Amino acid sequence: MLKSLPLSEVYRLLEPGPVVLVATADKNKDNVMAMSWYTMMEFEPPLIGCVISGNDHTFDILKKTKECVIAVPTLGIAKKVVKAGNTSGRDIDKFKEIGFTAAKASRVKAPLVEECYANIECKMSDASLVGKYNFFILKAVKAWIDPKAKNPQTLHHLGKGIFMTSGKTVKIASKMK
Ligand SMILES: Cc1cc2nc3c(=O)[nH]c(=O)nc-3n(C[C@H](O)[C@H](O)[C@H](O)COP(=O)(O)O)c2cc1C
Repeated sequence: MLKSLPLSEVYRLLEPGPVVLVATADKNKDNVMAMSWYTMMEFEPPLIGCVISGNDHTFDILKKTKECVIAVPTLGIAKKVVKAGNTSGRDIDKFKEIGFTAAKASRVKAPLVEECYANIECKMSDASLVGKYNFFILKAVKAWIDPKAKNPQTLHHLGKGIFMTSGKTVKIASKMK
């Protein structure tokens, strides 16, 4: 027998990829926040749609600078990721206080996050849905990966402080590239 699920819980079923960090820079002040509401929209150039709340400092900086870095963390820095998602760059210097290392990106002023196994430099592609849905469509312009990271254990948000971590991979023949 199925039970009714509050609509507010739907996101917990459909949470997309791993929790990521969004790094921005405003007048040389770097900031970083956690994000899990995003989706791939195109293969090449890669387009990434992201919902970033209008209350977040990142919203203001991304709207203004039109660029950011999306960094993919792993289980080893999970507590730092949650802290980046529970504090605001308006109040603290998150790179310094939480302990992330900023590295220079090549195509954007926002920093790479050295502790993350993948970093994607992004520029604003379309801001037409920002006013209505806080939905930013970003274009990846450069991507970096740590070649030493084999089977990185990513974090997947289930809500209410619960996370799933990636584990076993399976290979299934598929037409998808
Ligand atoms: C696991 C996790 C996932 C989150 N996902 C999002 C998200 O997708 N969009 C969003 O606007 N905020 C999200 N947040 C909340 C922001 O990270 C949080 O509001 C943060 O304090 C904003 O920082 P800022 O003010 O420095 O930009 C998430 C927080 C956590 C802990």
